[in-house]
Amino acid sequence: MRQRLADELEGVRRRSLDLLAPLDDDHLRRQHSPLMSPLVWDLAHVGNFEELWLLREVAGAEPIDRALDDVYDAFRHPRPNRPSLPLLGPAESRRYLLDVRGRALEHLERADLDDGGRPLLAGGFVYGMVVQHEHQHDETMLATLQLMAGDGYRPLAPPPPAVVGPPPSGEVVVAAGPFVMGSDADPSGTGAWAYDNERPAHVVDLPEFRIDAGPVTNGRFLEFVLDGGYDLPFFWEPEGWTWRQGNDVRHPLFWVDEGGGDWSRVRLGFREDLPLDEPVQHVSWYEADAFARWAGKRLPTEAEWEKAASWAPCAGRGGGAKRRFPWGDESPVPGSSLANLGQAHFRPAPVGAYPDGASAYGCHQMIGDVWEWTASDFEPYPGFASFPYREYSEVFFGADYKVLRGGSWATSPAAVRNTFRNWDYPIRRQIFSGFRCARGT
Ligand SMILES: [Fe+2]
Repeated sequence: MRQRLADELEGVRRRSLDLLAPLDDDHLRRQHSPLMSPLVWDLAHVGNFEELWLLREVAGAEPIDRALDDVYDAFRHPRPNRPSLPLLGPAESRRYLLDVRGRALEHLERADLDDGGRPLLAGGFVYGMVVQHEHQHDETMLATLQLMAGDGYRPLAPPPPAVVGPPPSGEVVVAAGPFVMGSDADPSGTGAWAYDNERPAHVVDLPEFRIDAGPVTNGRFLEFVLDGGYDLPFFWEPEGWTWRQGNDVRHPLFWVDEGGGDWSRVRLGFREDLPLDEPVQHVSWYEADAFARWAGKRLPTEAEWEKAASWAPCAGRGGGAKRRFPWGDESPVPGSSLANLGQAHFRPAPVGAYPDGASAYGCHQMIGDVWEWTASDFEPYPGFASFPYREYSEVFFGADYKVLRGGSWATSPAAVRNTFRNWDYPIRRQIFSGFRCARGT
């Protein structure tokens, strides 16, 4: 267990540093968009989070520099204000990270990870939390790189293209009946690392529904654009229509109308032909919702999404089994044929590219590629208890946020599973967000 935790810590740090390696100090310090932090803020912030939890909370250590707690407190300083903070420079940030990590690994050697001990430490939970937190910031940094103006971003090594397979067709039918939603894995459950908002597991009984076998593609979304979907208020939620009008939104973020029926998109600063067979990404909840209405469908609720992804029904008996991932319980490793995660291609893979990762019901690419908007507000499950701190989930519950599921191409395998819940404002679209549709039967 200790070795595995050390490996996970090492893996995420390599990921963070590799992502930033192609950038000079100026790019690291600059704020590329008011929606995002300067990259160097994210970098030192993950170190500060690690210091707070693995050194101060777990090991009872004294602060390395108390002033850093304020500068890197995400709640105290919203993103637009972060460039004006007294940030550590890139080299200082890297040194700080090394210092914290060295001490954290030292303490890991003797930490009591037994199940009967502190809930925070049992099963290595707090280490899993720190690993997932850094992976989540890596995804945030990838969103910043996507927004970066100028020369464009090239990863350290050119990523391989995805293997294109036949796209899954149409919809699958999910029969009426109960399934187990959420995770009961004790916060300390080995390898579970479920966050408080995923717990507790509870039974939800759903009527029969149909859900798309694959995410909505750029090609299909282009039909909506060309059909005047952005001009007809009839398809839009009233607040969505106001947002669309107020911001003159006419297509997904990063799409470019080249005229004459040609469309391109900007990816990591480079313009390329719009790939029609890839899942659409960089759409807001309002755009996804409007598309669904145009298509005569709706967005799935998060319960429907999770059932389609995670439930393996037993033939004829009404029961079933819960899977950690759509294909089963096996964690996808980098380069696996199960899911497009961990910037394997630095883009979504064409729909149909990962047939081995299909769910028991036959839904493809539910994990990886694009986060999928659901119809649901971010609410606690019955019996929710915040752990280990209210600011992770509890303060965000309510109708302001919509739930996204399944992770994107920029999400690490360590930071996603069928029960994982992400949430964001319905106007958000700099994130790697797409969707699939559902309908009743
Ligand atoms: Fe954070």
